[in-house]
Amino acid sequence: MLKRNKVTIVGAGHVGATAAQRLAEKEIADVVLIDLDSDMPKGKALDLSETAPIYGYNSRVIGDADYAATTNSDIVVITSGLPRKPGMSRDDLLRVNAKIVKEVTGKTVEKSPDAILIVVSNPLDAMTYVAHKVSGFNKERVIGMAGVLDAARFSAFLSMELNVSVENIQTLVLGGHGDSMVPLTRYTTVSGVPILELISKDRLETIVQRTRDGGAEIVKLLKTGSAYYAPSAAIIEMIEAILKDKKKILPCSALCKGEYKLEDVFVGVPVKLGNQGIEHILEINLTTEEAEGLLSSAKTVQGLCKVVDEVL
Ligand code: 2OP
Repeated sequence: MLKRNKVTIVGAGHVGATAAQRLAEKEIADVVLIDLDSDMPKGKALDLSETAPIYGYNSRVIGDADYAATTNSDIVVITSGLPRKPGMSRDDLLRVNAKIVKEVTGKTVEKSPDAILIVVSNPLDAMTYVAHKVSGFNKERVIGMAGVLDAARFSAFLSMELNVSVENIQTLVLGGHGDSMVPLTRYTTVSGVPILELISKDRLETIVQRTRDGGAEIVKLLKTGSAYYAPSAAIIEMIEAILKDKKKILPCSALCKGEYKLEDVFVGVPVKLGNQGIEHILEINLTTEEAEGLLSSAKTVQGLCKVVDEVL
């Protein structure tokens, strides 16, 4: 009998619910939506189930507050936490979200000890550290979602600037998901053409900065929350890579143990995603400036993790 994969999404807010919708519509997995009170996730799950006949998908979507429903999930996506308000940095959320992520990770791993965890809560790299520490899972099974989102933003801005298809743009963003992220312009191409042949250095720097501020730009516009369409799409790309064992190279927050000379820190690096989770961390050549950017970003994350240790 064909067994559909099971994905739990903890946090049925905009990011979680939109990820559930995308998963169901792509018929990638059965979905369990978890939130604090059971009515809201139940309502969203029912709404998605009632969409199924129109869209023609057979994924089952259920919602609950009780983690019993999540038992034996293949992947658990953790989106719980407070979103940013205008003017807040991702790091302002540190202590409050560390407590939340600690609690939901504990409940999650009790029911799904073999799952792969994808962390989305902010500040992203520090929350991935929390999930890793609390779960006790090996490093291959705890992954932070950020690089796919940041690279998508960079590609979107370049596509608007150059008036070319987003599909022609290849790029990579490393480092922590925060103000210190490191968009790699040297590895950015448009249909194989290096980006600096198509755009001035100054203009490119402006777009790099817009990428760094991409999350805040949306927070400022929405006023009552943060982005969710692109973040949920990024989550789905990672889930598909894992469940379909694609061996896809994507920038994700991964625990580095010596790679890029980084010791014991979660930070965005290119990884190979397959059904074992992170199957490999790719070490690409970096210039001194790029390596310094990555190191300084990793140091920022380490600083946050020290604060988090007080909460754990
Ligand atoms: C973002 O960059 C919320 O961190 C998320 O939009």
